[in-house]
Amino acid sequence: MNSVGIGILGLGTVGRGVYRVLQKNRELIAARLGTPLEVVKILVRDTGKERGITLLPELLTTDPAAVLEDPGVSIVVEVMGGIEPARRYVLEALSHGKSVVTANKDLMAVCGQELFAGAAATGADLFFEASVAGGIPVVKILKEALAGNRILEVIGIINGTTNYILSKMSDEGADFDTVLREAQERGYAEADPASDIEGLDAARKIAILASIAFNTRVMLDDVYVEGITKIRPEDIKYARELGYVIKLLGIARETPGGIEVRVHPALVRCGHPLAAVSDVFNAVFTRGDAVGETMFYGRGAGELPTASAVVGDIIAAARNIRCNARRILGCTCFERKPVRPITAIESCYYLRLRVIDRPGVLAGIAGAFGNNSVSLAAVIQKTTGVVAELVLVTHRVREANLRAAVEELRCLPTVETVANIIRVEE
Ligand code: NAP
Ligand code: HSE
Repeated sequence: MNSVGIGILGLGTVGRGVYRVLQKNRELIAARLGTPLEVVKILVRDTGKERGITLLPELLTTDPAAVLEDPGVSIVVEVMGGIEPARRYVLEALSHGKSVVTANKDLMAVCGQELFAGAAATGADLFFEASVAGGIPVVKILKEALAGNRILEVIGIINGTTNYILSKMSDEGADFDTVLREAQERGYAEADPASDIEGLDAARKIAILASIAFNTRVMLDDVYVEGITKIRPEDIKYARELGYVIKLLGIARETPGGIEVRVHPALVRCGHPLAAVSDVFNAVFTRGDAVGETMFYGRGAGELPTASAVVGDIIAAARNIRCNARRILGCTCFERKPVRPITAIESCYYLRLRVIDRPGVLAGIAGAFGNNSVSLAAVIQKTTGVVAELVLVTHRVREANLRAAVEELRCLPTVETVANIIRVEE
């Protein structure tokens, strides 16, 4: 049996996991595939670095050409991260007719179209399962298993670091910085955790999922993004009293006015399946016109869960090479659909205000909402004193109206601050 040669670009958290899984399950994978997979070369920056795995030193190289131009490498696995030089290396591998497997959502969300064109030019495969939701095979599910459905919405908890932080803050009252440090130590967080906590990591992932679900190219810039840095322990507490948990959601929805694609914290009703997804776990909830609701759950980050998705793609690429069936599942963006601006969406909203505590204040606040056709579902005074904390929940309203009401509130002398506004996903 001829083996299929694998070249790996990067041997950090994910690269190490891929190498480990390929070694540990070598015989099983060979039996399933009908041929062994052989790691031929691994590109790193520093060949002398201690990596916590046993491997032949001659496998390591700092020369990209040793992977990209080696005729013995049929599949290039990009697990370096970032845009450059990953983009150049992937394009070069594809130009040599090598299939590419990547875990890189930055690259797929920004350069996906260019990479698919590169793959189409030589008939090579480009797989990217691990770029969204780590070990959950949601890309394959949307592209293959649910391909008979018109997908109506995809809602995901797709960033493990922020879910870990919000869960620990909620369950243990832990403080933000300590939990973030823990997430970094466990290898969940990105090298620059700002990308996690500001919502950009999730934005890249929902752009990829929306592109697949709605067959239209959704770029990173199309995604409205808010992170979790403004969430305070009191928001978590008040949300819980109202029967909700706070989650960072990636939401992609097809509406008659276009596609909605957004990432922001949201209040999720305690009974919803997404509310029970805690710790570093991810979940992707979908609604299809035939299947109805489905939810896929698992570890969205970390060495072995991510490696599971990468190795699944390597096996698919190797099978296609063996069966001469490459490029059966290429780019699926064959339509062009408009993306709705955030001001056009409709939602319910939670607001936390700090206001002067005296008679008549509430009437002024209610007036600002009424003037902008925003109907209130609940108003609760949480603290008293010279300044009181008010929590309000609106009925469903267009975001433009809510924003206009908030502008009016900010001008009221009785409103000290609009401390937080969080959308409620019913
Ligand atoms: P990482 O731990 O920082 O590892 C990156 C590896 O790439 C390192 O081995 C580094 O070499 C190598 N590298 C980086 N730039 C290079 C360059 N210019 N030339 C040669 N080698 C270079 O990153 P990671 O956490 O494994 O993530 C890899 C990719 O997987 C990223 O796209 C990430 O978004 C994605 N991903 C990660 C996770 C996760 O849980 N970590 C989950 C899903 C997807 P040295 O070791 O010599 O420095
Ligand atoms: N930093 C990401 C997360 C993992 O926390 O989910 C890689 O996608």
